Amino acid sequence: MNLFGTLRAPRELLFGAGQRHALGSIAARIGRRALIVTDTRLAADADLLSLVRQLDEAGLAVMVDSSTLPDVPVDSAMSSSVGARSFEPDLVIGVGGGSCLDMAKCVALLLTHGGQPQDYYGEHTVPGPVIPLIAIPTTAGTGSEVTPVAVLSDAERSLKVGISSPHLIPTVSICDPELTLSCPPRLTAIAGADALTHAIEAFTAIRRDPVPGISQQRVFVGKNELSDHFALSAIALLWQGLESACRNGADHAAREKVMLGSTLAGLAFGVAGTAAAHAIQYPVGALTHTAHGLGVACLMPYVMTWNAPLMRDELGRIAQAAGLDGPDEVIPALVSLFARIGIPGTLRDLGLEEERIDWVAEQSSGITRLIQNNPRPLNPKEMRNLVAAAYRGDRSCLN
Ligand SMILES: NC(=O)c1ccc[n+]([C@@H]2O[C@H](COP(=O)([O-])OP(=O)(O)OC[C@H]3O[C@@H](n4cnc5c(N)ncnc54)[C@H](O)[C@@H]3O)[C@@H](O)[C@H]2O)c1
Repeated sequence: MNLFGTLRAPRELLFGAGQRHALGSIAARIGRRALIVTDTRLAADADLLSLVRQLDEAGLAVMVDSSTLPDVPVDSAMSSSVGARSFEPDLVIGVGGGSCLDMAKCVALLLTHGGQPQDYYGEHTVPGPVIPLIAIPTTAGTGSEVTPVAVLSDAERSLKVGISSPHLIPTVSICDPELTLSCPPRLTAIAGADALTHAIEAFTAIRRDPVPGISQQRVFVGKNELSDHFALSAIALLWQGLESACRNGADHAAREKVMLGSTLAGLAFGVAGTAAAHAIQYPVGALTHTAHGLGVACLMPYVMTWNAPLMRDELGRIAQAAGLDGPDEVIPALVSLFARIGIPGTLRDLGLEEERIDWVAEQSSGITRLIQNNPRPLNPKEMRNLVAAAYRGDRSCLN
């Protein structure tokens, strides 16, 4: 087998407790007029005020937009970019969870290239670089601080939409685990389970023929040597730290592991892509209005069971990373870890109604970008079977 890898990442990535205090000097090298994109909770937070002070002291003009809403409705991104235009920012700084970072990406895109978010749905539709972006995550989960994706919700579509382009990868990411100390246990669990799912889906994604130019044709190229490297490290860190971070939010060592794991998982799935668990979560999330991380994590063990016959080797390497005895232990251990941190075990527990199983299966099968990234093909009948199994909590019918 020829070795093949793709790595796309911020130009500079800082990780570590206290690294947020470097914002002023970093921003001063990049711009003069900084637009901070955040939400109302963070806008009043002492940490955010201290970031604004650093920018002031470094001589930057600052505008704070705290209008980010969960899951980023497209209209909110549009009005935020319109509101910021007269300020003429030359730097956008996203501070917050995945929603704030995705909003910041979208606002930087609209300020640079105009139009509306709908013009850029899909892959490789962003025509060129965007205004420099600094991403400062305050949750440890989405990996948005390093990924080429902004996820939005569009009232005219039942499923969430994505804008995927390497131009949306932030210029600089500052990952300071101290910013996650305030995350309550449930948010820590949901975000961390999202990250672990990213790492597993990236590590078990399909391996494509690495024809020259594949990384220019596709944003998500499938599993490769470099994404594997980040995915396995992420799995090890998250497996070690997630439960402790949920049990004791003040456990700094656990917070560090979970945040480093989520960022590495972002580096992995940002090129490899995700697969069937994410495809099924899109319609499930639309119907149950539950957090993205809850849905993908609930689905992951069912998708892994379906994929297991084709990923014996990967399961063995995940077992090693997680400190388990062998490939057969991985799925039961994941089920148990997720149960201990409060992830629902079935789609029924997540609030899905039984009569919507067919709709979920149909919609998931339609998300071909993600289904084609799954290592084991899933035809519509097999998809229905998988969704029904996840609804009932019965993995035995998937072997
Ligand atoms: N761009 C990507 O690569 C990518 C990947 C996965 C998911 N996503 C998207 O990210 C979004 C989810 O992001 P998320 O899970 O980070 O949640 P979020 O950003 O929606 O935030 C959830 C809540 O947590 C609060 N919060 C954030 N940081 C906090 C902190 N330190 N302490 C206390 N509360 C805090 C927020 O104010 C908000 O109320 C979804 O829209 C999802 O689709 C994006």
